[in-house]
Amino acid sequence: MPAQTDANIMDLLKASTAEHHARAEHSPLQQRLVRGSVTRDEYADWLAQMLLVHRALESEIERARPLVPALRHIGPLHAHAHRLEADLAALRPGAPAPRPLAPTQELSTAIAAAARREPAALVGFHYVLEGSMNGNRYIAVAVRKGLGLAPGHADRYLDPHADQQRAVWSTFRAAMGGEPFTPDQTAEIIAAAARMFDGVADVSNAVAA
Ligand code: HEM
Repeated sequence: MPAQTDANIMDLLKASTAEHHARAEHSPLQQRLVRGSVTRDEYADWLAQMLLVHRALESEIERARPLVPALRHIGPLHAHAHRLEADLAALRPGAPAPRPLAPTQELSTAIAAAARREPAALVGFHYVLEGSMNGNRYIAVAVRKGLGLAPGHADRYLDPHADQQRAVWSTFRAAMGGEPFTPDQTAEIIAAAARMFDGVADVSNAVAA
């Protein structure tokens, strides 16, 4: 049996991606979101690209479930594509299916490639998107105000767990943190998280451009 590391994967992810988080937080689009100064079109464009990223990740997670027992901690609560679809339908009823911008396509390809190489990498990709809901809750307040959205209208992605945000995140942290991963898997998970942070930043910058 391959060697396993005792380090908690969630602590390792947090520590190793702290700088990525600081950069992500300060990207121009994230700043416009958190200040509520984003335009309706820019917001919808960003949601459309994030929908494609989430779909790419969610389909790889479904495929890899039989291979990685730890993926059982990623459940229906953590699936966000359907929320993005609902938000987009509210903002742009009847709009054609979104097309990926170049960084969205590259990120989707990178997710699929990493999952083929080491399916446990999906834990790292998922960590970033689910973790981002911690900040998205605050962004939701600003975006509702800035765009004049009623609560529950086009804000489901930004605030998926509402008052349960802290509980959902701590439950996921505790469950995934108890999973054993080999050193190779741990390295792939951490690399995947870094790739997701960079990818979301590239996607945000492409939307902003
Ligand atoms: C203006 C933008 C953002 C703000 C204000 C923000 C804010 C926050 C806050 C307050 C937390 C909770 C920290 C804690 O309780 O320890 C958090 C956690 C997190 N955020 Fe953000 N965030 C932003 C953007 C992003 C983006 C763009 C991503 C990913 C692409 C992201 C990924 C994460 C992750 C993965 C965590 C979990 C960290 C951990 O506990 O391991 N955030 N963020």
